[in-house]
Amino acid sequence: MVDNALQVLFDADRIQHRVFELAKNISRDYAGGSLHLVGVLRGAYPFTRDLSKSLLIPHTVDFISVASYGDGTESSGSIQLRRKLVHPVKGRDVLIVDDIIDTGTTLDWLVEHVQSLEPRSVRTCCFLDKPARRQVPLSANYLGFPIDDLFVVGYGLDYQEKYRELPYISWVSPRTVVT
Ligand code: PRP
Repeated sequence: MVDNALQVLFDADRIQHRVFELAKNISRDYAGGSLHLVGVLRGAYPFTRDLSKSLLIPHTVDFISVASYGDGTESSGSIQLRRKLVHPVKGRDVLIVDDIIDTGTTLDWLVEHVQSLEPRSVRTCCFLDKPARRQVPLSANYLGFPIDDLFVVGYGLDYQEKYRELPYISWVSPRTVVT
């Protein structure tokens, strides 16, 4: 990928400001509850870490890993569980944390999966949403930003495993990608 093809969409300061706002709302809504964050590896690792650091209430964190994409820019449409949850969620207030909703296939599967484990409640928090790409009718309970149908990298989002480490989010046209 040609790095100068990356166009910054959300810089690090804007990301951190929005994470703090989300954490404030979540802290208010779950005060007195039993909040358990479930981060979706690998893309949601930085968002889950930052959200956890910013929450003002006690909570626990676990991670789950599923596969929904191949190496390219299109969803495969099928979900495979790669890493199951370590900690029990029965009776907990689970908040599934993901980096992006695209078709909605992953989040739909995750909500159903977590619900089958008998938590007290299940809600979702996603940093980005591409509503134009939706195939499953759902939306996140907490959302960072809606975006247009752009291919985005950074802040956990990758292109062929690259760019996850960027502290900002950029968009790039697949037509500009060279490997
Ligand atoms: C990405 C992203 C979401 C999912 C969204 O994960 O992190 O979990 O795709 O797509 P959908 O709404 O079309 O299902 P990916 O499978 O690329 O794995 P990764 O987090 O390891 O990059």
